Amino acid sequence: MVVPDPTRDPLVALARRHLWPPYTSPERHQEHDPLVIVDADGPWLLDAGGGRYLDGISSWWTCTLGHRHPRLLAALAAQAARLDHVGAGGAIHPAVAHLAAELCAVAPAGLERAFFSDDGSTAVEVAVKIAFQYWQQHGRPARQRFLALSSAYHGDTLGAVSLAGAEAGGFFTVFAPLLFEVARAPAADGGDADGCVAGWDRVAAAIEDRLARDGDSIAGVIVEPLVQGAGGMRTYPAEVLRRIADATRRADSFLIADEVFTGYGRTGAMWACDLAGVAPDLLCTAKGFTAGMLPMAATLATARIYDGFRAAPDGAPRTFMHGHSFSGHPLGAAVAREVLAIYRDERIVDGVAARAVRLSAALARAAALPGVRRPRQLGLIGAVDLGDGGYGGGGGPRFTDAARRRGLYLRPLGDTAYVCPPLNIPIADLDLLLDGFVDAVAECAAP
Ligand SMILES: Cc1ncc(COP(=O)(O)O)c(C=O)c1O
Repeated sequence: MVVPDPTRDPLVALARRHLWPPYTSPERHQEHDPLVIVDADGPWLLDAGGGRYLDGISSWWTCTLGHRHPRLLAALAAQAARLDHVGAGGAIHPAVAHLAAELCAVAPAGLERAFFSDDGSTAVEVAVKIAFQYWQQHGRPARQRFLALSSAYHGDTLGAVSLAGAEAGGFFTVFAPLLFEVARAPAADGGDADGCVAGWDRVAAAIEDRLARDGDSIAGVIVEPLVQGAGGMRTYPAEVLRRIADATRRADSFLIADEVFTGYGRTGAMWACDLAGVAPDLLCTAKGFTAGMLPMAATLATARIYDGFRAAPDGAPRTFMHGHSFSGHPLGAAVAREVLAIYRDERIVDGVAARAVRLSAALARAAALPGVRRPRQLGLIGAVDLGDGGYGGGGGPRFTDAARRRGLYLRPLGDTAYVCPPLNIPIADLDLLLDGFVDAVAECAAP
C-alpha cells in the first residue's frame, strides 16, 4: 500500500501536471515515483520524504566536488553581491579575464584561447563551427565534413546530434532529415561493449586510412578521449587516441577533444588527453568545469586557430559570428575559477588514484557474479553490463530501483550499470556506494 506523503505528493502532482522532464515519456512521467530532492550535502542527496541517497553518478557527471562545496557557495555569493551579469559584447569583467588565463594554464599544451558558452552541447557546437569556418577562410573550402566515432555522444543540439553514433543516438533517428552528414569510423566491437583491442585497432586503422586518402574533405576529427560516456562507458586504449591524433596531424586537419565528461580529473588526470600525451587543436569542457554548480562551458583553441580569424590580407573580416546571452557569465566564471582553485588546493586529481583502487576491487567482485559482463574502468568511472542489450537494453529501470532501495542514486545506460561518483567522495561513503552497487548488480544480473 502506498502511504500518502504530504511533503512529496503535492510536488509530484505539480510536476506531473506541468513539467516536461528530459528523456522521459509522458507515460513514465505519470506513473514513476521520482526522487524529490530538497537538499544536498557532499555526495548525498536528501529527499523530501526523508530518504538519503548517495549521488553515485555526480548528477549527470557534473558534481565532481560533491554538492554545496562551501568554497563554491562563498565564491558564488561574493560574485552575486558585486556583479550579476554583463553582456559579453564590448565588455569584460575580472572573473572572465582571470578564468580564461587560468583555464589555458591547466589545459593541454598549445590551447591558448577560451570561448565561453552554456553547456556541453554548445561547447561542441562552437568547436565544430570554429573548425568549419577556419577552413572556409583558409583556402580549404572542401573541408566540410567531420569524422566521428561510432557510439559517439556529443550532446543534444542539432550539430552535436549529427556527430552522434548509432548506439547513443538510437532515439535521434527521427531528426535525421535535420542533421549534417558525418564521416563515421567503424564500430570497435562485434557485441563487446568495451570493444576489444583488435576492434579499436581497426578503428584507428580506418581513421588513418580515411585521413590519408581523403583528408582534404575533413574539417575536424572529434573524439571523446579514452572513454565514450553516454554510448555505454566504452573505454579504449591511449594508443588508439595517439594514432588518431597523429593521423589528424599528418592530414593537417583539427583534432577536437570533447572532454565534457572526461575532463576535470574524471579519468585520473586533469584531461583524458593528458593520459595519452595528446594535444588537441580544440577542446570542449563543461560539467566539472563548474563542478555542477552552474551551467557554463568552454571551448579552448590554439593560437593558430584564433589567428585564423584575424582579418584577411585585404582587410576583409573573418570574425567568428557566434555568441550566447550568457557567454562568460560572471557567476559561472567566478565559480569556475574557484573550482580550479579547489582542484589545486585540495589536490582533487591526485585523490582519484586511491579511490580508483577501491573501485577496481568492487568491479572485480561484481565481475565474479553470474550474468555480469565486461567490467571496465578508467579513473573514477566503473561499469559492467547486465545483459547484451547495450544502450537499448531493458536492464535500466530495474537496476535504478534496486539501487534506490539501497540508498543510491544511479542511472544506468540501458544495460550498462556504472558508477561515477564525486572525485572527493569520502572513502567511507565511497565504500557504501560500491557495496550497494555490487549488491544491486547481483540482484539484477542473475540470469
Ligand atoms: C562527451 C559529452 N559531450 C557533450 C555532452 C553534452 O553536454 P550537455 O548535456 O551539458 O549539453 C555530454 C553530456 O553528457 C557528453 O557526455
